[in-house]
Amino acid sequence: MSLVNVKELLRKAKEGRYGVGAFNVGNMEMVLGVIKAAEKNSSPAIMQIAESRLKTSPLHVVGPMMVAAAKAASVPVAVQFDHGHSMELIRQALEIGFSSIMIDASSKPLEENIAIVKEVQKLAAGYGATVEAEVGQLAGDEGEGEKERFYSDPEDVRRLYESTGVDAIALSFGNAHGLYKSKPCLEYSILQRASKVPVPLVLHGGSGISPDDFRKCVAEGISKINIATAGFMAVEAGARQYMEEEEKNYFVLTRLMAESVEKTTSEHMEIFGSIGKA
Ligand code: 13P
Ligand code: ZN
Repeated sequence: MSLVNVKELLRKAKEGRYGVGAFNVGNMEMVLGVIKAAEKNSSPAIMQIAESRLKTSPLHVVGPMMVAAAKAASVPVAVQFDHGHSMELIRQALEIGFSSIMIDASSKPLEENIAIVKEVQKLAAGYGATVEAEVGQLAGDEGEGEKERFYSDPEDVRRLYESTGVDAIALSFGNAHGLYKSKPCLEYSILQRASKVPVPLVLHGGSGISPDDFRKCVAEGISKINIATAGFMAVEAGARQYMEEEEKNYFVLTRLMAESVEKTTSEHMEIFGSIGKA
């Protein structure tokens, strides 16, 4: 059990038609909440931190904590560097022991994206780490504009996979990072075409997608689901709940934050169908 890369986790998820949650973390309470949820539910899990979060959660501090927590877990947990851009930071994450890297070269033309993915694969292979790539940009923090601009071309998913054999591919079909400004409108025909490619597909921008849509995404071929905003909101909600508690000290605060993250993580695991799959 314990620290694994995403290859086996996602192969089993794809075969078994369930989704593995990839939960973004930023502090110790979030790490402990995710691990506790995975253990209590006998669920595999992926714990990740995005490059853009390193300003508040430095990699050399939070990274070793994530790896140590995954190693000590009684269920399989992968630790992934999310939305990596810098080769130097990717190398640092691998040195710390991250078992998987997401290289986000989605803003580049496909051929360039493929070349960058290959470079990261070469580096990651030396550490036994897996690699996730992205095809097509997500609305939200990756840009704004007419929605068609943000749909992945399933043909690009196929070409990137055939050129690289990468372990997972994130795609864009109406999903967006952060809170949705209006009800998410997922273009399932894109997912259906992309899922003909024999690679585990990743849904980014999970926070705010309805349970029904999550289940449909999994049924149509999504194997990994990224949840960030919901986790950050949960840890903050734990801190708010603390303000209403009679007993106020650090230990109550830290427990409430971890419990709140554990709860939302468990709820997502239930919807994704990963409970009991460890
Ligand atoms: P949300 O913040 O919308 O859940 O997105 C998560 C994500 O895609 C992390 O890479
Ligand atoms: Zn993302």
